[in-house]
Amino acid sequence: MCGIIAYSGNENAGDIIINGLQALEYRGYDSAGMTVFTKEKPLTIKTAGRVLQLKEKAVNIAEKSFCGIGHTRWATHGKPSETNAHPHTTELLSVVHNGIIENYSELREKLSKDGYSFTSETDTEVAARLIHHNFRETQNPVEAIIKSTAEFRGSYALCIIFNSVPDHVFAVRKDSPLILGKSKSGHFIASDISAFSDYADTFYRMADGEISEISKSDIKLYTDNGELKEIIWNKNTESDTQMNISSVFKNFMLKEINEEPDAVKRTFLSLTKDSLPCFSDIIPENLLKTVKRIHITACGTAYHAGLTGKYYIEKLSRIPCNVETAGEFRYSDPITDKNDIVIIISQSGETADSLAALRLMKERGIPVISIVNSVGSSIEAESDYTIRTSAGREVSVASTKAFSVQITALLLFACELAVKKNKITEDECRKISAQINKTYSYDIQEVISCSKSIRNAAEVLSESDEVFFIGRSYDSYLATEASLKLKEITYINSQAYPAAELKHGTISLIEQNTPVIAIATNTMFFDKMRSNIEEVRSRGAFIISVCPCDADIIKEVSDISITIPAAEKLVYPFTTAAAIQLLAYYTAEIMGRDIDKPRNLAKSVTVE
Ligand code: M6R
Repeated sequence: MCGIIAYSGNENAGDIIINGLQALEYRGYDSAGMTVFTKEKPLTIKTAGRVLQLKEKAVNIAEKSFCGIGHTRWATHGKPSETNAHPHTTELLSVVHNGIIENYSELREKLSKDGYSFTSETDTEVAARLIHHNFRETQNPVEAIIKSTAEFRGSYALCIIFNSVPDHVFAVRKDSPLILGKSKSGHFIASDISAFSDYADTFYRMADGEISEISKSDIKLYTDNGELKEIIWNKNTESDTQMNISSVFKNFMLKEINEEPDAVKRTFLSLTKDSLPCFSDIIPENLLKTVKRIHITACGTAYHAGLTGKYYIEKLSRIPCNVETAGEFRYSDPITDKNDIVIIISQSGETADSLAALRLMKERGIPVISIVNSVGSSIEAESDYTIRTSAGREVSVASTKAFSVQITALLLFACELAVKKNKITEDECRKISAQINKTYSYDIQEVISCSKSIRNAAEVLSESDEVFFIGRSYDSYLATEASLKLKEITYINSQAYPAAELKHGTISLIEQNTPVIAIATNTMFFDKMRSNIEEVRSRGAFIISVCPCDADIIKEVSDISITIPAAEKLVYPFTTAAAIQLLAYYTAEIMGRDIDKPRNLAKSVTVE
């Protein structure tokens, strides 16, 4: 987490850094700060607020600055405050950091014995003092960085300004991303291309251990032992048009839900040929023919997409599929075999636990397929094969359209696998494609446009302290995603359960008017779901159902029904997703929440 940008060039560094930090706020927005070189000396400005507040404070910088580093923080060590905000400075240098120095208390103790004192609670200040210490000894920035990082345990992306080397910024990374950028006006270092994509036309993704040095006129890359190495530049094709909300939408979350039909369509078209899934350019055919078991691992919403993917894969291809959150999977010593494959799902492609799970599987020689939305991300770079989803940039912290494209990719992958395993025919596959086509052409849009019942349900939820979501089979996965979305942006406590599980304990929490949201799209379970609804209803629950428009058996026992167009069961997760996302959205709107930037969160979780 945390966003970093550094610049050295002919433009005003202060402006470039502020713009870059605004693009990086998705990585954290607890506090912000920057150090810029003015003619006289380095100047550090920090705020316990967001980048906008930093911008207001920076207005007072009288002189233009041509070099600087900036940071937007997601607090790990020490509460969000001006003291804990980055950059951390000493008399010799200024440092911004993304990641966690795990042995910081050990290092802090050692440095204290050497006479250093500390003002913040952060691990970054320890890094700053250690680099300061080593720079005092070596008088060489690169050597000081090499000596210091040799003592760090954990993950870091660091940008450092040494006061005695004006107009230069040095950087080093391990397990946290850093990208170099080059434009006509100068050079950049940032956590993500989006921070400089308005200016730079080429970029380079730094590898672990590499050290870089940018100045107005030059950009250098060093190996981890300080030898110069060549930079192989890539063309920057990222367009930032998606960063604008447009006048139609109040915020990114609403905009991104509205983009779902197009995002699903783009993803569908990019992964099909003549309406049949087409993965031959991405995954070797033999891998699909020989696979005996699939592991899916991911975090948060991507994990819930993975659960839906398990349903698709097992239903269509009958290949067993195990789904686990990446944070658990990586430490569970998972049982793997030679005919296994692993699927890592990530919108950002930078999630620390998912990346670590990927690396573990690669060490074991298990083929890794990633499903990634962000072009050029670490997960994409390190996977054996990547299925790219085409949601476009997702800005709102709450993931919405990314989920829809992830399940699109998973459904198509499951079809491809099932055909290769002779479990379904190409004709059956075409029928599934036709269902997806109907979904993105009409059904998702209908859910988005006819949102009156969703708004009514949101009124009820906005008055509640506790909400329950239930469902069966794939609907229970959507229930889990619905609960996450509601908690994330409204701060209402909610829980999701497979519908049959409630009576094994949790039903004791149901009181008069407790909202229970029953997701019931699978005709196979209508009778069972109705019984489960009756069980909570008779104990006073207020029932909000999400069901097909023709599901009278469910509607009859509901106080409010959110209906979705009738369809085949494989594609109900698409319309259900839009409905439950909007339910969370409208509830948060009624409650006046900061929808795109909910408290305590960041878009990209790059610490474990
Ligand atoms: O970038 P990723 O897909 O790897 O992110 C995984 C989760 O952090 C993410 O889905 C998170 O749960 C969302 N904020 C939920 O809306």
